[in-house]
Order: sequence, then C-alpha cells, then structure tokens
Amino acid sequence: MAENLLKGKLGIITGALDENSIAWKAALKAHEQGAKFVLTNAPIAMRMGAIKELADHCKTIVIPADATSLEDIEKLYAESKEYLGGNFDFLLHSIGMSPNIRKGRSYGDLNYDWMNKSYDVSAISFHKMMHVAEKMDVLNEWSSIVGLSYIAAQRVYPFYTDMADAKALLESIARGYGYRLGKMKKVRVNTISQSPTKTTAGTGIGGFDAFFNFADKMSPLGNASAEACADYIITLFSDLTRFVTMQNLFHDGGYSTTGISEELMEQFKDL
Ligand SMILES: NC(=O)c1ccc[n+]([C@@H]2O[C@H](COP(=O)([O-])OP(=O)(O)OC[C@H]3O[C@@H](n4cnc5c(N)ncnc54)[C@H](O)[C@@H]3O)[C@@H](O)[C@H]2O)c1
Repeated sequence: MAENLLKGKLGIITGALDENSIAWKAALKAHEQGAKFVLTNAPIAMRMGAIKELADHCKTIVIPADATSLEDIEKLYAESKEYLGGNFDFLLHSIGMSPNIRKGRSYGDLNYDWMNKSYDVSAISFHKMMHVAEKMDVLNEWSSIVGLSYIAAQRVYPFYTDMADAKALLESIARGYGYRLGKMKKVRVNTISQSPTKTTAGTGIGGFDAFFNFADKMSPLGNASAEACADYIITLFSDLTRFVTMQNLFHDGGYSTTGISEELMEQFKDL
C-alpha cells in the first residue's frame, strides 16, 4: 500500500455522521496518509456526538457548519485556515439529504419547498463551498475538490425521486466550477458516482435493499464499499491525479457499463 500520499496536505472533510459514513472512512484514510484536516457537519449532526470520537482519532477539531449557509462556510474556512496554518489542498463534499425521501413522497407528489431544500443541501451547497473558497482565496494551486454522486443522475431509479435531480445538478456544478477554478488556480473538481452503500443517507431511500442487492449481482466486481470509496477519494486528493477534472467518475464495480450479468440471467430464465 502506498504511504503518505497526502503528506503535508491540508483540507476539509464534510459529512462524517457515524462510522458507516463515506466521509468517516475518508477521514480515517486521509489521516493514515498524512493529511491534516478539519471535520465539519451540520450543527444538528453534532448533537449525536460520534464525530468528536473521529476528531480525537484524527487529532483534529470539528467546526459545525450548515453547508447551505454562506456565513457558516465563511466561518468554517476562516477558522480552519487558522487552525491548519494554511490554505487548503482538498475539500470533500459528502452531503446529501431529501425531506421528500424522508417523508416517502413519490416523484409525482413532491413538496416543492422540500424539493428546493433537497437541491440546496445536496447540490447547491457544493456550489456555495466553491464560491466561498474562490471569494476568500483559500485554495492552493493544484488542489482537489470531490463531491459524491449516484447513477440516478443519468438513469431512472424511481425511488430516488428528487435526489436524482439534485445529483444531476451536483455533477453539472462540478463541470462548471471545474472549468472556472481550473483556469484560475489549476484546481480540479470531480464527482464520484458510488455504488449503493449502507449508510444513513443510503438506507433512507425506499427500496434500498433491492437496488443494493441488484447492483451487487449486476456488477462484475460487486458493489464498491464505503471503504473502497474512501481509497478512491484519497487518490483524487493525491498528486497522482492532477489532470483529472470536470469528470463524473464511476466507482461501482463495473455496474454502469454492464447490460446484464449471468447471475441475473439465471434468476429470470424461467419466468
Ligand atoms: N449511501 C449511498 O448509497 C450513496 C451512493 C452514492 C452517493 N452517495 C452520496 O454520498 C454522500 C455521503 O452520504 P453517505 O452515504 O456517507 O451518508 P451519511 O448519511 O453518512 O452522510 C450524509 C451527510 O450529510 C450531512 N448533511 C445533511 N445536511 C447537511 C447540511 N445542511 N450541512 C452539512 N452537512 C449536512 C449529514 O449530517 C451526513 O453527515 C452523499 O452525497 C450521498 O448522496 C451515497
């Protein structure tokens, strides 16, 4: 295993809620690889307390910030910069939430205030994080920004409802800001389209077990775990991927390019 891939790098990791979170695993790996970073999550997630344990393990601090609030992001960057002693080399956006999904609303029966909330939390917050970073000039040259997406941005997954549209927006923002920040400071921006993963956000989606198992049987390599996703995130933060930008990168065991697998054919042959 390569070591110290992130030695000397400074950054911010959002979205570690509990030990299942993709961001939690990414923080553990970033720490192992020599990075220094600040952890952040919505103030409401702080009350659960688990993130403090992660911070102790990673020898860092937690700064609460609602990713939909420009003021919170400004404060997060200012305090992180002071704590870390420099500008950032990486930002992880690992944030998603849909009130419509939480309340079980179907795609034809969405509450539009909640839909706006889904977009704001799950996609526009990515834009806001980059907007504030540009305004405050807190990114080093050749830094790397990663957001997390799902294939429902391109294909229909009926139970993913407004999160599908939020992910399409997130991926588009990665391209728009990838161009802008690339020109300005050689910063790269990508999204990772991850396999279904058993986390709080993932399992909250209707029919999760069915599409988790389906994807697992469809993918030649099986579903990618949260830990494997964290490994991929580390490569994107490292200097080994400096010319990868404005991409939506599938991290899904081959799911997105498989038409049908032999396992699924077996299940359907006698219908
Ligand atoms: N789990 C999956 O199946 C899956 C698949 C593909 C992509 N993703 C994406 O991965 C990312 C991380 O999710 P996860 O699966 O690790 O689940 P998770 O529930 O552990 O993480 C989601 C995080 O978003 C945070 N959050 C919600 N509202 C916020 C706000 N206003 N400000 C700041 N933070 C806020 C939550 O507190 C939580 O830490 C999300 O973007 C999710 O959509 C997940």
